[in-house]
Order: sequence, then C-alpha cells, then structure tokens
Amino acid sequence: MTVKKIIINLNTAPDAKGLTALNELNSFFNDRDFNVDLNDNRLTVNLRAIDLKKFSLIKKTVQEYCGKENAQMLNQIEDSINAIKSYGIKNGKRIYVDYNKERKVKNRVVKEGRRGKYYYAQQHKYIDKNSKIPDKFNDQIICGDSLNELQKLPDNCIDLVFTSPPYNFGLEYEGSDDDHNWDAYFKKLFLILDECIRVLKYGGRLIINVQPLFSDYIPSHHLISQHCIKRNLIWKGEILWEKNNYNCKYTAWGSWKSPSSPYLKYTWEFIEIFCKGKLKKTGEKDNIDISADEFKEWVVAKWSIAPERRMKKYDHPAMFPETLAERVLKLFSYK
Ligand SMILES: C[S@@+](CC[C@H](N)C(=O)[O-])C[C@H]1O[C@@H](n2cnc3c(N)ncnc32)[C@H](O)[C@@H]1O
Repeated sequence: MTVKKIIINLNTAPDAKGLTALNELNSFFNDRDFNVDLNDNRLTVNLRAIDLKKFSLIKKTVQEYCGKENAQMLNQIEDSINAIKSYGIKNGKRIYVDYNKERKVKNRVVKEGRRGKYYYAQQHKYIDKNSKIPDKFNDQIICGDSLNELQKLPDNCIDLVFTSPPYNFGLEYEGSDDDHNWDAYFKKLFLILDECIRVLKYGGRLIINVQPLFSDYIPSHHLISQHCIKRNLIWKGEILWEKNNYNCKYTAWGSWKSPSSPYLKYTWEFIEIFCKGKLKKTGEKDNIDISADEFKEWVVAKWSIAPERRMKKYDHPAMFPETLAERVLKLFSYK
C-alpha cells in the first residue's frame, strides 16, 4: 500500500512516556491511514489520510500526561503534516495519496496547448510597462463620478481595482440614480470599466462584486464578464459570496409548486476576477500580508460572509462588509 512517508529526526530518543504517547496516538487512527514508527530517535510518519481536527484533539489529550519533551514530539508530527501543501479532501479527511489519480490527464500540457488557454485574451494589445501613481492620488478617498475621476489618472498605474458598482435595483443612493434603463446603465458602466482597465497596471487585477437583478432576468455578472472578455482581459475566476440570507418569496403569480415559473432563490452575490495582460502578479515576498490559514481558507472560492448590518448607521442602502475588501486585497495584491 502506498503511503506518504515523513521522517522526523528527534534530538533524543523518547522515554517510556514518549513511547506510550506514540502508542496512544497510533491507537486512535486506522493503521492504514496513519501510524508512526520509531527507530532510535528517528520517527517515520506513514500517512495516507487524516482528520487534522481529530489529530489535534487527541494530541492535546495525550500531551496532558506525557511530559514536555514528548509533547514537543507530538507537535513536530503535527507541524510536519501541516507542512504538506498538496492534498485532497474527502469526508473531512485530508488525503495525501492518490487523491488526484482518477482525474490525472495524460499529456496535460500538450492538450492545454491544443485547446488554447484563455484564447480570447491572447491577442491583447496591453503594453507591459507600468507607471507610478502620482503622489497626489496616493492614500486618498476621492468622492466624485468614477468616470470623471478615473480620467485624471495615467495609464497602467493601479495594482488592483475592486468595485461594487450600483446594481440598478432602484436604491436611494445619495447623488446618483439607481433605476436606469438597462441599456443606458450598461453603457455607462462599461465606460467606467474601460477606464478601470486603462489605469490598471500590466498584470493588475480588476475585481467586480455584482448581483444580477434576477427579477428583471438581467444576468449582470455575465454581461460584465462578457465585456471584460471582449476587452481581452483574462478571466481568473469567480468567487461566490455566500451571504446566507434570503427572503421567503416562493411564487411568482400562481406558480407555487408549479413548473410554470418557479422563482429561484439566491443567497449569494458574485465576485468576478480579471487580469490585464498576464495571470501572474509579481511582487516582493516581504510584501505578502496574507497568513497561511487565511490563504488556505480563502482560495476556496465560496466565501461565507454575513452582509453588512450597519447600513442605517452609515446611511447607505447597499454597503458591503469590510472583510470582503480585506480578503480581496490580501489574496490578490501585495502590501
Ligand atoms: C452597490 S453600492 C456598492 C456598495 C459600496 N461599494 C459600499 O460598500 O459602500 C454602489 C455605490 O456606487 C455609487 N455610485 C453610483 N454611481 C456612481 C458613479 N458614477 N461614480 C461613483 N460612484 C457611484 C453609489 O452611490 C453607491 O454608493
């Protein structure tokens, strides 16, 4: 049976308590999935699959009576498992062996070449030369019409644009209408998005939080994506912002429990991510401000975040929570 082997060289061989601790640890797991072997002061962890939450609980229990040195040995085992970055997940367990066997594609690179990855963006005319944002715009909150304000910025000077445009739901925004004819709405929105694209650096990201108006049957997220693709941006992906809230409208005029026109319910919004020129964004390692745990959680593209509840306090009808912006900035840009 194939297992992943992790070798840990201990400073000293474990004492009697340490051996008991290892035996205890082994006894909690299916031998086929996880076991630890000891040879003098060399530990071999044979790993196939493990529930790390369970491991952590058992480790804490065993540590209570096994002494400081042995407790450290158990931490070392846990750290060495945590250090493995590639695994599958099944029924709450991390799978370290053969987790992608069923999906292995032979000659993957050749096939990718034949298909033509992001073929729609290959002919872009973006120039790989970035400029510095003028100092007067640095760290500023600028209030105004985005179209006018963006026009004041030079080309290729912004690392990341994160926007949540008005959704045209008819909300009462201060200083702007939110009930345009859809054609006019998209015309203006696309002009603003074009400005966003112009000011983005080569390798910069345009990230758009959007909610379609389902009751008008307008797929705003698709239309916006279509526009960005027409502009030869690379679609990096989509995040579902799960807000876990829904209203209890079950029918649309006489369609209760009928296929005539069931009203679909959405408890999430969409976040579309586009790149200008290239997928990879280069930057200094020291300027990465995301933690390992945040990274692991946030690359799973469904973010469960409660909607902002302080709209009355701030007198704004459609705020998004700050956490959303924090995640976007940390995951897709450098400090
Ligand atoms: C859906 S809300 C998004 C939530 C918002 N990002 C927040 O958390 O505060 C859209 C916002 O865009 C603003 N807005 C509408 N048209 C605009 C324009 N042409 N330029 C700049 N902001 C605009 C609205 O006043 C509203 O505050």
